Amino acid sequence: MRQLRQPTSLLQQGMLRLSRWIILFQCGWLVLGCNEEPSQPAVDTTPYQFELPAGFPAPLESESNPTTVAKVELGKRLFYDPILSADFSLSCNSCHKQELAFADDIAISPGVDGALGFRNAPTLANVAYLGLMHKDGGVPKLDMQAGTPIEDMAEMNLSIFDAADRLNADAEYARAFQTAFGRKADAFTITRALAAFQKTMISGNSAYDQYTYQQDDTALSEAAIRGMELFFSEELACSSCHSGFNFTDNTFQNNGTKEEYISDQGRFRITWDSLDMGSFRVPTLRNVALTAPYMHDGSLADLDAVLAHYDQGGKGHPLQDERIRPLNLSAQQKEDLKAFLSSLTDEQFIRDERYRLE
Ligand code: HEC
Ligand code: HEC
Repeated sequence: MRQLRQPTSLLQQGMLRLSRWIILFQCGWLVLGCNEEPSQPAVDTTPYQFELPAGFPAPLESESNPTTVAKVELGKRLFYDPILSADFSLSCNSCHKQELAFADDIAISPGVDGALGFRNAPTLANVAYLGLMHKDGGVPKLDMQAGTPIEDMAEMNLSIFDAADRLNADAEYARAFQTAFGRKADAFTITRALAAFQKTMISGNSAYDQYTYQQDDTALSEAAIRGMELFFSEELACSSCHSGFNFTDNTFQNNGTKEEYISDQGRFRITWDSLDMGSFRVPTLRNVALTAPYMHDGSLADLDAVLAHYDQGGKGHPLQDERIRPLNLSAQQKEDLKAFLSSLTDEQFIRDERYRLE
């Protein structure tokens, strides 16, 4: 039987090969065609136009994730959606609230099932300008940061793969991911969309900015002007760490918040360099009046406590930076410094509708 089926002539053999190729080609075409689903939306690459306040450089953009309108819109939906937490109880917004400059007002914000982490939720204002992320610099860049809160057991406690499955099962999200990235929700696209939205959270229109850049002499009170002079004075040295347009030089410093760093060793956790014990990234002071409590663990309740801390010269940890030393501030000077720090609040930022869901 087998013998009979064999093609006899060379011509017949050639024809058979050709037809196999045609069949293969057609199948391939079919498969590709099916995958492409004609209804998929085209990728929308319209760039997002940053509106930069006076004195602000362009945000750090990455070649692999240029900020587009479609990514920002998708990132915003994700930011407010509890779909990213194990039991659908928390969104990013639960710990990063716009009215608090995207920080929280308690020392440690509870995660899923009330699980507690060990750090105070920071503001997200101007995160586009941070290099290393987190207080210890443990995450290389904003573009990949969102994987941490989603998976952290003391935060949203959901595997990023499960997050992707949930999102891909939702027709609207599936479409939005196609439009923004030309592909499905996955670890890359989820984190990049969230980063794109957060890059737009730029805050630079405080009373201090209006006074300094917009020539509005009435924007600051007398007390705030005195406080500003103290803040930028060599004697107090605040602005040697809290420097530049974002009031941070993005270095890691030990400002003597603790006598001993036991439960949180700061930058040491990442580098294992003993000199990094108790060092934390110098935080921005923009909107600082809204982001109490303060320091890595939220252990200082208000700005009075922070100023008392600096006035007494820190707790005296052996690695405490030498610029942290007793200042002998008068009660008036403390009030003036507080007035200056409060002038860094950006009312427009916390009301800006672009950061809200419609
Ligand atoms: C349970 C509270 C909680 C939730 C929910 C949460 N965060 Fe955070 N977030 C924190 C805390 C605490 C930190 C500080 C972590 C650290 O420094 O180690 C932080 C840090 C960050 C940072 C780094 C900021 C910096 O200054 O380095 C970014 C960005 C961020 N969160 C974005 C998000 C996004 C996006 C989501 C949602 C996917 C989210 N967070 C959900 C509490 C939370
Ligand atoms: C040697 C560098 C350095 C100097 C000088 C310095 N700071 Fe800080 N500051 C830090 C670091 C680091 C932190 C965060 C510490 C932590 O997370 O535990 C911080 C935290 C703060 C905070 C709390 C911010 C928050 O979101 O929790 C305020 C407010 C502040 N500093 C104001 C000042 C003032 C005012 C001065 C001058 C009197 C000053 N700092 C001098 C490094 C410095």
